[in-house]
Amino acid sequence: MKVAFFSTKSYDITSFEKHSNDAHEFIFYESSLNTKTAKLTQDCDAVCAFVNDHLHERTIKLLAKYGVKLIAMRCAGFNNVDIKAAQAANIKVVRVPAYSPMAVAEHASALILTLNRKTHKAYNRVREGNFSLERLTGFDLYEKTVGVVGTGKIGQYFIKIMKGYGCNVIAYDLYPSDAVKALGVSYVSMDELLEKSDIISLHCPLTEDTHHLIGKEAFSKMKKGAMLINTSRGALIDTVEAVEALKNKTLEYFGIDVYEQEEKLFFRDLSENIIMDDVISRLISFPNVLITSHQGFLTHEALDKIAEVTIKNLTDFENGIKSDNEVIID
Ligand code: NAI
Repeated sequence: MKVAFFSTKSYDITSFEKHSNDAHEFIFYESSLNTKTAKLTQDCDAVCAFVNDHLHERTIKLLAKYGVKLIAMRCAGFNNVDIKAAQAANIKVVRVPAYSPMAVAEHASALILTLNRKTHKAYNRVREGNFSLERLTGFDLYEKTVGVVGTGKIGQYFIKIMKGYGCNVIAYDLYPSDAVKALGVSYVSMDELLEKSDIISLHCPLTEDTHHLIGKEAFSKMKKGAMLINTSRGALIDTVEAVEALKNKTLEYFGIDVYEQEEKLFFRDLSENIIMDDVISRLISFPNVLITSHQGFLTHEALDKIAEVTIKNLTDFENGIKSDNEVIID
């Protein structure tokens, strides 16, 4: 099949070429997929898109016009795809439901350790010959309460890591899992999780229900001095309210790998540009905020798996094989 890739980076090309075995013809575009770039899909059977591509109804109608029959997401989340519009246009949507939940869980843990023990600051200090320990004091993770929102694949690995540190883990999920309870985790209400947690980590998907799940009201219920970590999707948090919570010290640490307006910023080198987004500029100015630009997934193992599963999704579609990785809604 002829497949147009959007939002392509060098590491995507490397991993997809490594696993392709010439089974399909790939065309790699750096630009994101939207109504303006949809015409690049002319004569393509499929598109391969990523987290910040715009697969809204208008884009999907254009894809259908240009002959696209399959949208292959090379990620787990599909909140940026209008599934109903795709179904109406007779375009199937497939994804990679799990490629390395460990990668994202480990990155969440890295954000916690870095924010807490300030290794990023220590690294810079020592390189400049500053061996002082002033203002580097952290806290023991041992016996702290960690609240996990969303106990699916990533949440469960994250829980195991936190248990390894000796933390007391509580969780909130719409569908509590026996496997999670067996790890010694108690499910509580969202309010109780907010009130009791020293560290809160978000691992649920972005849906209409979870949009701004952590907003003004949630911040008001949080334990003073809490740490909030988000490696899931940016719009789970009302970032303007997060800035307020940092200013009034409700939030003492804030670590994010995702940001609600990330689409205009992340995955690009903007070091010579003026950043027009005042909210992220304000966030960057806080000494107790750590931002990474959606790199939770970025391990060799995850990239290999993403390429392998996406290529299988394409081949299955070509051969008329029904795939469990197809996204279907009623
Ligand atoms: P999953 O589907 O295995 O687990 C999600 C869990 O959230 C499920 O247990 C579900 O019941 C729960 N949930 C759904 N709605 C909820 C709600 N309203 N309140 C509380 N819990 C709710 O998904 P997985 O693989 O663990 O991924 C979680 C999220 O991580 C993805 O949706 C994606 O947004 C994000 N992600 C981020 C990556 C990164 O690079 N930073 C990479 C991969 C995924």
